Amino acid sequence: MCGIAAYLGQRLAVEILMDALRRLEYRGYDSAGIATLEHEKIHCCRAVGTISVLQRKLTDSPIPGSMGIGHTRWATHGSVTELNTHPHFSMNGKFAIVHNGVVENFASIREFLSLQGYVFYSDTDTEALVNLMAYHYAKEPANATKDRFLESVRKSLLHVRGTYGIAVVCQERPREIIGARNSSPLVLGIGKGELFLSSDVASFTAHTRDAVFLNDNELVHIKNDSFAITTLDREEVEAVRQQVDWDTVAAELNGYPHFMLKEIFEQPQALENALRGRIENETATAHFGGLQMTTDELRSINRIIFCACGTAWCACLVAEYLIERFARIPVEVEYASEFRYRNAPLDPKTLVIVISQSGETVDTLAAMREAQRRGTRVLAITNSVGSTIAREANGGIYQHSGPEIGVASTKAFTSQLCIVALLALHLGRLRDLSEAEGMEIIGAFKQLPSQAKSILDQSAHIQTIAARYQNCSDMIFLGRQSMFPVALEGALKLKEISYIHAEGYPAAEMKHGPIALVAPQCPVFCLACGEENIFEKTLSNMQEVRARGARTIVVAREDSPIGATDDVIWIPPAHAVTSSILATIPVQLFAYHMGVLRGCNVDKPRHLAKSVTVE
Ligand code: AGP
Repeated sequence: MCGIAAYLGQRLAVEILMDALRRLEYRGYDSAGIATLEHEKIHCCRAVGTISVLQRKLTDSPIPGSMGIGHTRWATHGSVTELNTHPHFSMNGKFAIVHNGVVENFASIREFLSLQGYVFYSDTDTEALVNLMAYHYAKEPANATKDRFLESVRKSLLHVRGTYGIAVVCQERPREIIGARNSSPLVLGIGKGELFLSSDVASFTAHTRDAVFLNDNELVHIKNDSFAITTLDREEVEAVRQQVDWDTVAAELNGYPHFMLKEIFEQPQALENALRGRIENETATAHFGGLQMTTDELRSINRIIFCACGTAWCACLVAEYLIERFARIPVEVEYASEFRYRNAPLDPKTLVIVISQSGETVDTLAAMREAQRRGTRVLAITNSVGSTIAREANGGIYQHSGPEIGVASTKAFTSQLCIVALLALHLGRLRDLSEAEGMEIIGAFKQLPSQAKSILDQSAHIQTIAARYQNCSDMIFLGRQSMFPVALEGALKLKEISYIHAEGYPAAEMKHGPIALVAPQCPVFCLACGEENIFEKTLSNMQEVRARGARTIVVAREDSPIGATDDVIWIPPAHAVTSSILATIPVQLFAYHMGVLRGCNVDKPRHLAKSVTVE
């Protein structure tokens, strides 16, 4: 939920850290701060607001040093004030820390330290943690055989219950930084004579692609231009160095006004990336390299539980329709935050699949770990190589969508839909799906990128439609069958981007209560482009709301007989396995244009963050 960064090298730390924080700002942007260390003096600059506010302060009052730590905050404990802004200092000023996560037992730590005479200035859990480190440091004998700085951090973390990704500096230990993680991501970047730490590898790929992804309960001790990784139990860890394949240029705007629009328009490419190397024409099926399951194991599965949050959860709902229809396997869909506590009955023939763009969503991670703890195999569909979920899953499928910087998930979502469609084909062809049906589906996949592009070409038309509805305060999205999850996603997109209250319903459900909401100021967005057997019923539902004064926007297959509506967005006819993907693009563009027309920050919507690493 926050972004942390650290640098130790020969260059001006502030420049490196500010560049990193700009790339981390999607993780939270309530406030930001930097601390650097030079000649055993810690310099600090913090600011409420986005990174640009901090930049203005630093321009007015530069801080020196070739090492330091930085943080961009999404508030969890304590309101958005400068006092609560990271970095936080120990009372004696010797330690400075940046923290992404939640120390659940911070109150008892604060109480213990208060009894030792410690005074606190902020409302944050992080300040308790950094003072605990100062406490242990003061208690470590100066002539201790073990490294005093490292031991004070280690002992403090052993007290912690909760999650953390941290970077810590100590005034008396210039040229040293300690990082550590538990449930919140932390990655080490290895440059030439310089080292980086960050919540997200994308923040330093401009400087190096040589990375080490830390695991839970690991600490990294950076000293000058070397580092050592150990566990909380003092076991040495051999660093597994990986070459990151993301190019930072791919994370730039490239002429688009917003990352969200750029990523909406990247969908044809993202869909091609999801499909690349996974279609087997000879056997009319799909192929995955990372499932780590034999065909017999896959055939023996008699139940699949999908778990995710937010937009990824909507992708799970589409997976339910497709896998039940084409592979005839019972599917259940669970919010990860509910599944982890629900104690669902699991048996060896149950497969759990988690979907997570970031691979760090704490509820999804916890749901996966709970299923694994009970002996259930878990596969992960994720966009983030080296993420915690990717590394802890028993197997999985990478999306290869490229960096998704906009907080609202767009290309990652349609990529997830493409992958679950491929999975439905793969599982179906292991069962009763015929070769002819398989080839039909493969034909649909091959048309997908160009069909997606043809819908993107309607962006100006959709912007015109959005302008007619920009002042509405409520909106309803309707769809049946595999269009119902798209209705939910459309409502979520509109909510999170334009702050308009929006709800998604199965179209037939309107009669059971929601139709009472229908009025001229509550337009209805109707997805009548799904399975043909429910097309006319969907139109009937639309006419029911029109009869009660609602304005309607319809997404429909080109030239289909849709009857009266206020606005229409035509999309190409598509196979059931890809129609949800195509129907999503109009609702994404509609939400984007509504957000821009209403002056909202579409890349960094209020109260949101890209990766929810707190519960
Ligand atoms: C998507 O538009 C939202 N920003 C949010 O619901 C997101 O899908 C959810 O937090 C899950 O994130 P993940 O895919 O990284 O796990």
